[in-house]
Amino acid sequence: MTDNVAEERIVPMRLQKFLARAGVASRRGSENLMTAGRVCVNGVVATELGTKVDPRVDTVTVDGREVRLADGAVTLMLHKPAGFITTMSDPHGRPIVADLVPCDRYPGLFPVGRLDFDTTGLLLFSTDGELGNGLLHPRKHVDKTYEALLDGVMDERDAQRLRDGVVLDDGLTLPAHVDILRAGPKDSRVSITIHEGRKRQVKRMCGFVGHPVLALHRRSFGPIELGDLSEGSWRLLDAHEEAALRQAAGLDAQRRRLG
Ligand code: URA
Repeated sequence: MTDNVAEERIVPMRLQKFLARAGVASRRGSENLMTAGRVCVNGVVATELGTKVDPRVDTVTVDGREVRLADGAVTLMLHKPAGFITTMSDPHGRPIVADLVPCDRYPGLFPVGRLDFDTTGLLLFSTDGELGNGLLHPRKHVDKTYEALLDGVMDERDAQRLRDGVVLDDGLTLPAHVDILRAGPKDSRVSITIHEGRKRQVKRMCGFVGHPVLALHRRSFGPIELGDLSEGSWRLLDAHEEAALRQAAGLDAQRRRLG
């Protein structure tokens, strides 16, 4: 019964909405793909922005490749150990995070963002492109909290500089939340929450204020906490976690499933 209700709400839908829900691009980006003539419905080029599709029966392609909704999508968390590259394949056969998650059971799984080779902690994976895109979108400012071991004695002045924002080579960082957990004598431990996802951001921020990162661990991503999951292990998110994550990504809390 519930599924039928969801089904009534889901079909038919505008093609750009379908493409966005499938994680192909934002709605605007999907419209651009359509007007560029790159999208076909049942083999016919669909440039008309009013085009509607029924995901149960229509075949949608972008550049000739079929696109489907993330029906039955799966999202899981991994406690990433150090020494793994955040990628799903590596031509050089180095240790990669794909070795640690059940890719065969859940085809289409991809990491939501990345952690450096030596960074440990919470790494999310999903088969839901729309969710992944939403969580990583720069305007969504999803919080990520790290615990960092820093070289030297981090004092309140340094911490305040990070809170206010520092100018890195790719621009001023947004205000961060910083707590000094332990300072000195040789190194310091801090908790730092950032709202962006630039490459090596925490390391660059801390390095900028004179405290190179010695070790970095991610404790949370948006509303999701790593908790006591052991290193190298993964688990599926529960329904509450999934709903909270979808909200953080600016999506409906409830994923609508096709019948
Ligand atoms: N910031 C970094 O510098 N490295 C990571 O792995 C994650 C955030």
